[in-house]
Amino acid sequence: MNGKTLVISGATKGIGKATVYKFAKEGINVAFTYNSNEEIAKDMVKDLEENYGIKARAYPFNILEPETYKELFLKIDEDFETVDFFISNAMIYGRAVVGGYGKFMRLKPRGLNNIYTATVNAFVCGSQQAAKRMQKQGNGGAIVSLSSTGNLVYIENYAGHGTNKAAVEAMVRYAATELGEFGIRVNAVSGGPIDTDALKAFTNYEEVKAKTEELSALNRIGQPEDLANACYYLCTNDASWVTAQTFVVDGGTTFR
Ligand SMILES: NC(=O)c1ccc[n+]([C@@H]2O[C@H](COP(=O)([O-])OP(=O)(O)OC[C@H]3O[C@@H](n4cnc5c(N)ncnc54)[C@H](OP(=O)(O)O)[C@@H]3O)[C@@H](O)[C@H]2O)c1
Repeated sequence: MNGKTLVISGATKGIGKATVYKFAKEGINVAFTYNSNEEIAKDMVKDLEENYGIKARAYPFNILEPETYKELFLKIDEDFETVDFFISNAMIYGRAVVGGYGKFMRLKPRGLNNIYTATVNAFVCGSQQAAKRMQKQGNGGAIVSLSSTGNLVYIENYAGHGTNKAAVEAMVRYAATELGEFGIRVNAVSGGPIDTDALKAFTNYEEVKAKTEELSALNRIGQPEDLANACYYLCTNDASWVTAQTFVVDGGTTFR
């Protein structure tokens, strides 16, 4: 793993940030994106390079414009020698999800389309750019999409996100089937509720947190590191025959 490079979207906080630190601790260079938190991204680059002896760079990127992945990867080419792992992690919130985050009868095409763009289109465009480079390098690679158990169990107001997570998991299986011949493995990590800002933005956050603790066989809500470690495993050779899968990391909540 040492000396390889991870590209990941949305790593200024939550699961993305935990993932960047996990990979950096293992000696992997990191190219990550930010949207609104430029200062945090700059501080992270400094901290990662000073404390982990790896190369780190941060780039502005908006997943609502997934075609701009093309330019983003051209910039990454200038800074890094290879692209070995790609993780599609960033997710939109706030105004962009109006009409997408809510009860079924309040859903609107615009909000739903934004979530599709940020979830499925972003995974497709980012993975295409990453896979192109992996094919050229000839050493295979690993791609992971973040997903959520909100496509398996009911979560209030989550219909827009849940259905798009189901769609991205299906897209993962298609990508895996067609990229396998190049030694590129593609998987999803589907998390139960994880204690991040995205969850705190839920109107019923306290209720979701309490319910998760109650439902979990392990009596706690998930932490960003729980998903970061799963993403890391799927990128290692220990997972060399794992592809086209969804790895559910939910503290046992989905079965209850
Ligand atoms: N939290 C959960 O319960 C949970 C459970 C399962 C799966 N997931 C999935 O895990 C992933 C990460 O979630 P999280 O909870 O870690 O989220 P988070 O803490 O809210 O972080 C979201 C990240 O996405 C970036 N972002 C926001 N809007 C963006 C945009 N328009 N373009 C590009 N980047 C944008 C943010 O960057 P800035 O800070 O720079 O704006 C931030 O780095 C998502 O795909 C989510 O669906 C979350």
